[in-house]
Amino acid sequence: MLQILTMLLLETQLSMVSALFTVEVPQQLYIVEHGSNVTMECRFPVNGSLNLGLLTVVWEQKRQGQSKSKEVYTLRNGKASLPSQHHDYVGRAALLHSELKLGRAILQITSVKITDAGSYLCLIDYQGADYKYITLEVKASYKRINTQVMRKPGEDKFVFICQSEGFPLAEVFWQNEKNFSLSGSANTTYTLTADGLYNVTSILTFKPNLSENYSCVFWNKELNGQTSAHISTLALISTQYNGQKSLVLFIVPTCVMVAVLPSALIIFQKRKSFENGQPKEDRKRKHNPNLKDENRDDFNAQTEALYLSTVTASRDSGSVGL
Ligand SMILES: *[C@@H]1O[C@H](CO)[C@@H](O)[C@H](O)[C@H]1NC(C)=O
Ligand SMILES: *[C@@H]1O[C@H](CO)[C@@H](O)[C@H](O)[C@H]1NC(C)=O
Ligand SMILES: *[C@@H]1O[C@H](CO)[C@@H](O)[C@H](O)[C@H]1NC(C)=O
Ligand SMILES: *[C@@H]1O[C@H](CO)[C@@H](O)[C@H](O)[C@H]1NC(C)=O
Ligand SMILES: *[C@@H]1O[C@H](CO)[C@@H](O)[C@H](O)[C@H]1NC(C)=O
Ligand SMILES: *[C@@H]1O[C@H](CO)[C@@H](O)[C@H](O)[C@H]1NC(C)=O
Ligand SMILES: *[C@@H]1O[C@H](CO)[C@@H](O)[C@H](O)[C@H]1NC(C)=O
Repeated sequence: MLQILTMLLLETQLSMVSALFTVEVPQQLYIVEHGSNVTMECRFPVNGSLNLGLLTVVWEQKRQGQSKSKEVYTLRNGKASLPSQHHDYVGRAALLHSELKLGRAILQITSVKITDAGSYLCLIDYQGADYKYITLEVKASYKRINTQVMRKPGEDKFVFICQSEGFPLAEVFWQNEKNFSLSGSANTTYTLTADGLYNVTSILTFKPNLSENYSCVFWNKELNGQTSAHISTLALISTQYNGQKSLVLFIVPTCVMVAVLPSALIIFQKRKSFENGQPKEDRKRKHNPNLKDENRDDFNAQTEALYLSTVTASRDSGSVGL
């Protein structure tokens, strides 16, 4: 590879004197999400129709802090040179051939990995040679945060756990609804996954206020924004009775019944008094029409008759079922 490079560079210097062959990059920096696809582009001059047999395109990658570069994709005299491709890129890197005639050497990498990040060299030889560098940054936001709450055996403390994977390494903050920090008593550790991601686990052990909710925040200044997970104290209540499921199964319907019964009774009674079409006071009396009290003497005969007829009417309708 080094030999070809030296040769091409020599050629470049020679061609610089005569016709200028230059490779250009419309975009120098690409920042992509782990697992997505990326296309990186280099442009070269094509005069008229492309003579593919004269075209050589080399894409190489070099990670930061590493001296050796990897061959990502090579097109030599119009033909793909797959045997020399680095195994990291097998089946994931391709040159978009249809774009070549337009003078565009576009490298596509699918399901981008953390290890794909680095500096990419694109070298093009087409009756003249030149090269440029492109930088690829890969990030993985801590999208899915797994939460777990456990009761500490024999104590009134709870263990809150937030776990997520991403890149670069994130700090984890814990807070209550008033954004009051609780991170002091948290223990955050990480491991590296096979994909090169950070597997961050934060454990907070404390005595929560059951009328507050809590959240864990994964933060890294290089990642645009932060992600967080909300832990509801409702989860605590179910944890508190963990292993006593029957108790929860009993408490919940009981609470529902306690809440629903009084309103059901009120509705029932309202409906009944509406059906009877008379005020409560009258209803009391009708159960005992012969009741003699002081107020009774104030009633005149007319009222008395009306009162009795009402009672009869309502009895006839059959709506009094007490
Ligand atoms: C990435 O490219 C592959 C192959 O072209 C395609 O199947 C896949 O859907 C693409 N993924 C995304 C996220 O665009
Ligand atoms: C491109 O082709 C035109 C004529 O089609 C010619 O005048 C010009 O010199 C060519 N340029 C290069 C760089 O070959
Ligand atoms: C807490 O922080 C969040 C986001 O940082 C904000 O939306 C919210 O209003 C804050 N709450 C209080 C009580 O300050
Ligand atoms: C944090 O957790 C790790 C692993 O579980 C443990 O080794 C370490 O002692 C803990 N640190 C503190 C301060 O609790
Ligand atoms: C991340 O760590 C957690 C616990 O520390 C573990 O259960 C999980 O399997 C790990 N995930 C990966 C992808 O390594
Ligand atoms: C629990 O939270 C509520 C509501 O934020 C607050 O009024 C109360 O004082 C808190 N109790 C304790 C013990 O901190
Ligand atoms: C806690 O969160 C749950 C579910 O998100 C919500 O229903 C409840 O109102 C919250 N509690 C408080 C005190 O904000």
